[in-house]
Amino acid sequence: MTLEEIKAVEAKLLLPTYERNPILFVRGEGVHLIDDRGERYLDLLSGIGVNALGYAHPAIENVIAEQGKKLIHTSNLFFHEGQAELALRLTKMSGMDRAFFCNSGTEAMEAALKLARAHAGLLRSEGRTIGTKFLALENSFHGRTMGSVATTHKAKYREPFDPVMPGVEFVAFDDVEDLKAKFSDEVCGVLIEAIQGEGGIRPVSREFMAVARELTRSTGALLICDEIQAGLGRTGKWFAYQHYDVRPDVATIAKPLAGGLPLGAMLCTEEAARAIHAGMHGTTFGGGPLACAVAVAVIDTIEQENLLDHVTDVGTYFHARLNELAERHPAIVEVRGMGLMLAAELDSAELAKQVAGEMLERRILINRTSETVLRFLPPFILGKDDVDLAIDALDSILTTHAPQEASAATIGGKRVG
Ligand SMILES: Cc1ncc(COP(=O)(O)O)c(C=O)c1O
Repeated sequence: MTLEEIKAVEAKLLLPTYERNPILFVRGEGVHLIDDRGERYLDLLSGIGVNALGYAHPAIENVIAEQGKKLIHTSNLFFHEGQAELALRLTKMSGMDRAFFCNSGTEAMEAALKLARAHAGLLRSEGRTIGTKFLALENSFHGRTMGSVATTHKAKYREPFDPVMPGVEFVAFDDVEDLKAKFSDEVCGVLIEAIQGEGGIRPVSREFMAVARELTRSTGALLICDEIQAGLGRTGKWFAYQHYDVRPDVATIAKPLAGGLPLGAMLCTEEAARAIHAGMHGTTFGGGPLACAVAVAVIDTIEQENLLDHVTDVGTYFHARLNELAERHPAIVEVRGMGLMLAAELDSAELAKQVAGEMLERRILINRTSETVLRFLPPFILGKDDVDLAIDALDSILTTHAPQEASAATIGGKRVG
């Protein structure tokens, strides 16, 4: 089918959940995607933070071919090698004790929410005082299913589906006093993205994370770090919470875990895991042999190719080049992020939309989140020459659309005229 034919069929037959860009990708190579006309695109989005090893990486191709011939699915009624192999790696990398495998980020969050409720129930049965409420942060994004969407802040994602899971209160982002005011023994779990992704690449402060750890520890509530976007190496460490020197009770992961195949996991401490026994939670597909084998290959490749150091190195370079750009273009009000999870916030939503659109015309994929934020989530194998290409393109687009005179009418990053 041609792109036009596909568009016509989708418009008629699919639930209209997505506004797609009119491009038909047919294959990928390294950090590039290639469309049906043979045009190459530099991908600084990697399938929204999924394709950490880029496209057509031999480690992934080989393991899919080999495992595909052996075994793709068995269900969780039987053993296969993959979950144990993967759990050995993930627990070592994360400092967590146990893993539950599922298929997506939102399912990992559902598992975390259920674990927090069950754990609080266990504590109550042991005579402790602890309730069933959750605290999440303003601008959080934890997924689209009924529990995780209830903990997702933006009303447009949540309200059309009301009533969602009750008992969720939102804390002002990074506001220690608000956290202290809203925390009580009614709370069974506090959800934090160490670096908010959809919320605009916003890291919480060390103080906020430390206070959340202290408060949750004081009652037995679980500190749940959502590492679905920031985890598995994107920030230069395996987990973003490792920049904060805290050990949460639960960490959720998904996106890059199986190199583009659907796989998520909820990792937790032995203490939290006490609350779960056989039959309480489960999934048909989660942690299947193929997805687990690919995940083991992804993790081993990140280690063998020293990609955590590479992410730090190229990420620092990218960050510095964005800062240089911000000095020349006052329309960039802030550059944020760590490793290869970066953002440049612009002073207007229209400009951000225009820049993302023109980057696409120049065959460089980025996206806009939180209205004004240009987000960069490239594959971990990105090179400095790729960064230079993107910076030159941004420079030229901003020079055209946000000349210095126009941006002069801003104070403290806010448009005043
Ligand atoms: C921080 C965070 N949590 C949860 C999710 C939901 O993951 P999924 O789309 O795999 O359900 C996302 C997806 O973007 C995310 O960025």
